[in-house]
Amino acid sequence: MKDQIANIRTAAEAELAQVSEANKLEELRVKYLGKKGELTAVLKGMGRLSAEERPIVGALANEVREFLESAIDSKRSALESAALNERIATEKIDVTMPGKRGTVGRIHPLNAVLTELENIFIGMGFAISEGPEVEFDYYNFEALNIPPGHPARDTQDTFYIDDNIVLRTQTSPVQIRVMEQQQPPIRIIAPGRVYRSDAVDATHSPVFHQIEGLVIDKGVTMADLKGTLEIFVRRLYGEKTKLRFRPHHFPFTEPSAEVDISCFACGGNGCRICKNEGWIEILGCGMVHPEVLRRCNIDPEVYSGFAFGIGLERVAMFRYDIDDLRLFYENDVRFLQQF
Ligand code: DAH
Repeated sequence: MKDQIANIRTAAEAELAQVSEANKLEELRVKYLGKKGELTAVLKGMGRLSAEERPIVGALANEVREFLESAIDSKRSALESAALNERIATEKIDVTMPGKRGTVGRIHPLNAVLTELENIFIGMGFAISEGPEVEFDYYNFEALNIPPGHPARDTQDTFYIDDNIVLRTQTSPVQIRVMEQQQPPIRIIAPGRVYRSDAVDATHSPVFHQIEGLVIDKGVTMADLKGTLEIFVRRLYGEKTKLRFRPHHFPFTEPSAEVDISCFACGGNGCRICKNEGWIEILGCGMVHPEVLRRCNIDPEVYSGFAFGIGLERVAMFRYDIDDLRLFYENDVRFLQQF
C-alpha cells in the first residue's frame, strides 16, 4: 500500500508538470483528491490494514495529500498570474485614441425663459397654477365674456373636439378655474400651451405658449397692475426699460390695455428689432371685468383685480434675438446647442 501511495505521488507530480490550463488542473485535482479520486480510494481501503501499519500508512497518505493540495494550489496561482500577464501584454490601451464624447442635453430656450419669468413672479408672491389644454367652450370663451357669435371667437379660431370642447386658445380660462376654486386673495400665474388654427410662418404657430397672470383682492387698482408689470419688465429686460400702456379691448377686462416696452436693443431710437418703432408689444392686460368676477361668485363690490397674458415665444424671441418662431419647434440641434 505504501508503494501504491508513492506511485500515486509520482504519477500526480508528473501530470501536474504537464498541466497548462486551469480546467485541466481541476480535472487532475478531481482525479487524485476528489471523492472518487485515486488517493481517496487508497485511504478508504485502510480498514484492511493491521493496527501497526494503519498509522504509518495513514500518515504517509496524509502527507501525500497535503503535498498534492499545495502543489495544485501553487500551480493554480502560477497559471492565474501567467494569464494575467498575458492579458496585460495583449490588451494594451492606447490612451491617445480619441474618447467617446458624452452628449449632454440642454434646457430648451422656451423653458429657460419660462423659468426666468416664473422666478420673477414667484419673487413677487405669485403661485403657479395650471389648467387643461383640452378645455370646455365655457371656460375658454363664455365665462370670459365671449358668447357664441362674439367677434373675438374669429381671431381665436381653434380646433374643436365637439361643440362644447376645444383646444384652449388662451391661458385665460385658468383664471376662471382658479376663481371657482379659491376665494380672494388670489395671486397666480398660469403658464401653458395654447392652440389656434393659424398657418405656420415666422411669427405664427398653431401651438404656442402663454403665461396668464391674475391678482384679485380688496382694493386692487390699475396702479397695482402697472407697478407689477413694471417690476416684471425691468427684471426681465433691464432697469432702464420703459412701459407704455395703449388702450385696447379684451372682453374679460375693463379697462384693457396692450403693453409695449421701450426697445431693449436700441433704447427706443428705432432699430431692426423694434422695426424702427422704438417700442415692442409684449402683453395684453386689464382690470378683471365685474361680470367675470360675478360668474365665479366673487362680489365685484368687494373685490377687484387685474389680469394679464404674455406670449412666451415673443419674449423668448426678443430675449435671444431669434427671428423665426419655427426654430423653437423644429428641434434642430444646431439651433438648440446655442443656448
Ligand atoms: N388671452 C389674451 C389673448 O390670448 C391675452 C390677455 C389679454 C390675457 C388681457 C389677459 C388679459 O389676462 O387681461 O390674446
